[in-house]
Order: sequence, then structure tokens, then C-alpha cells
Amino acid sequence: MPDGQSPPPLTDVFGRTVSYLRLSVTDRCDLRCTYCMAEHMTFLPKKDLLSLEELETVAAAFIRRGVRKIRITGGEPLVRKDIGDLFDRLGRHMGEGLDELTLTTNATLLAQHAERLYAAGVRRVNVSLDTLDPVMFKTITRLGDLQKSLDGIEAARQAGLKVKINTVALKHQNAAEIPAMVEWAHAQGFDMTLIEVMPLGLTGEDRVDQYVPLFEIRDQLADRWNLTDEEGRDAQAGPSRYVRIAETGGRLGFITPLTNNFCAGCNRVRVTCTGRIYMCLGQDDHVDLRAALRDAEHPALALDEALDTALMRKPEKHEFAIRERGEAPALPRHMSMTGG
Ligand code: 5AD
Ligand code: SF4
Repeated sequence: MPDGQSPPPLTDVFGRTVSYLRLSVTDRCDLRCTYCMAEHMTFLPKKDLLSLEELETVAAAFIRRGVRKIRITGGEPLVRKDIGDLFDRLGRHMGEGLDELTLTTNATLLAQHAERLYAAGVRRVNVSLDTLDPVMFKTITRLGDLQKSLDGIEAARQAGLKVKINTVALKHQNAAEIPAMVEWAHAQGFDMTLIEVMPLGLTGEDRVDQYVPLFEIRDQLADRWNLTDEEGRDAQAGPSRYVRIAETGGRLGFITPLTNNFCAGCNRVRVTCTGRIYMCLGQDDHVDLRAALRDAEHPALALDEALDTALMRKPEKHEFAIRERGEAPALPRHMSMTGG
């Protein structure tokens, strides 16, 4: 590349530019949410995971190509032992191409990590929380203790992190509780996003028993409160559509991969903890970066080429559906491989 010329952005054949990387650092988790994992999971051997150095090399390659936001995901990212060091390393890219470094977490270990995350440059966290009822929390997560997650959320707030609550809407488990959860989140000053359950991986539960279309929840909320659609850049970025609720004063997002897909505005790709790029959450096509990292003579060059190959193959959209009982998942891989 000639001197002084910046590397080309990551633009796909549909004209979408990728500016957001979701980087998974482990497939493990200390919970087993019924919509995400099976009760008994086989996790990857640790040697298959990218090292911290490799994760940083991958992140840096994306930043050079114009990625401005990185979200660290899992599984549960905070169960990885050296995770604090990764945040320190990635934090050094802030202001040097990177505008935002963030994570998605179940908050069970957030109390231990919140201050260090803030010190590394993290300002916002997404916390996955599906209920405020301790018994239901145990039912949904199979292993969790609600109080531990709530303590993690409180520690994040104390450390100065802005919290957004992500809630997967589940027909029989939390659908009726969602208005109360919205009230709680907004009273704490947290934004909240509702998510339709996606048919990824076998979990031992039938998706038909879990899935509730979000327009039903939205109608239920609109009977009670005044919802105003948010306009503007932020409201359009990514797959979430936001409303503001007059009575609670907070924002509520809707991620509706089943009833309304927003793939046309997609600005992201996902990298798994073994170094595969998935260009779409809802498709199985992927490109292996680990080979480029480990085997190539010129890793930086090979990585760049792999990114180009991946972008050329980014599909137009996903095709999720939950139609009938007993149906196989749309994809065999669990959400914990790509971190949502
Ligand atoms: N469908 C929808 N959301 C899911 N998550 C995990 N598995 C699924 C699924 N099958 C959510 C988690 C977390 C985010 C990363 O993805 O609850 O909020
Ligand atoms: Fe773990 Fe998140 Fe999956 Fe629950 S949804 S099992 S917290 S990775």
C-alpha cells in the first residue's frame, strides 16, 4: 500500500460498511440459560482458543480497516482468566482508531471486574438479565443466583459504567413480567432492549415454547404507556429499534430478527474465540483467521486478505423462522460461539 494512504474500509457487496466487531473470547459460561445452551455442554479445549496476543492482533487488523467499536462477548467473557489484561491491551487503541470498547456480560463476575474495566476505557456494558424473580432466574439460567448478578450491576454503576439491560422475551417465563422489568430498569436509569429468541443450537427445549413475537409485547406496553419511536442516527444504528416511554422517561429497544429483520443496516461481523469470522449471525458461512495468524508467512497480510474474503461473502440477510414444534434449529451452533 502506498505511503499515507489509509487501508480500504470493510465494505461488502451490498454497500454496507463494517465498523463494529463483536469478538468472542470464550465459549464457556457459568450459566446455562435455557434458550442459549443445553444443560450439559462440551466446551472447546483451551488450546483451541486464540491467545491474548492473537485476539489483540485480530482487533488491530479490524481497527486498521476502519472498525471503531469492539464488543467483547462469550459465552461469558468474564470467565476467561486473563480477561482484564485483554481489556487493558485493547483499551490502548481507544482514541487511536477505536471509539468504543464494550462488553456483553451476565454480570455474575462484574463486581470483581467493574473498576478495572472502567480504568481500561470501557464506559458502557450490556447486561443480559431475563427476570427479577429469584426463582425464575434459577429456572431460566439453570445455575444462576439473581442477587449475584444484581450486585454485579450495582458495582458497574458505582464504577461509572452505563448499563443497558438485554432481555430475551420468553413466552412462559418472563413475558408477563416485562412491564415490571422495564419500570425497574428505567427507574435505575438503565436503557433496556428486548430480544426475540433465535433458533440457534440445541438446548433441550422447544423454541415454540419460548418464542413470543415482540409486537405482542409492544402492544401490551402501548396499552399502558405512551411509546414514541426514536429517530436519528443512533436509533438507526444496528438491528435495534428504540422507543422512548413518556411515563418512565427511559428508552426501550426491540431486536426482532424473526418478525422484522434489519439486515439492510447491518454494520457488524463476529469473530469466535477460535478465530472464525462469521459474517452473519444467522448463516453458517465463516472464514478462518487462525490459519492466517498462525501459519502464514506474513500474518498481517494474510489477515487482511482473509478480511477481504470474508466481506465479499457477507450475505444479504438471515432467514430465521420458528414455525413448528420439533423443528431443528436454523443453525447447529449455539449463541455462545458468537456471543449474540
Ligand atoms: N436467542 C436470542 N438471544 C439469545 N441470547 C443467547 N442465546 C440467544 C438466543 N438463542 C442472548 C443473551 C445475551 C445476548 C448476547 O444474546 O441473553 O443477551
Ligand atoms: Fe451464558 Fe449468556 Fe448463554 Fe446465559 S445467555 S448461558 S449467560 S452465554
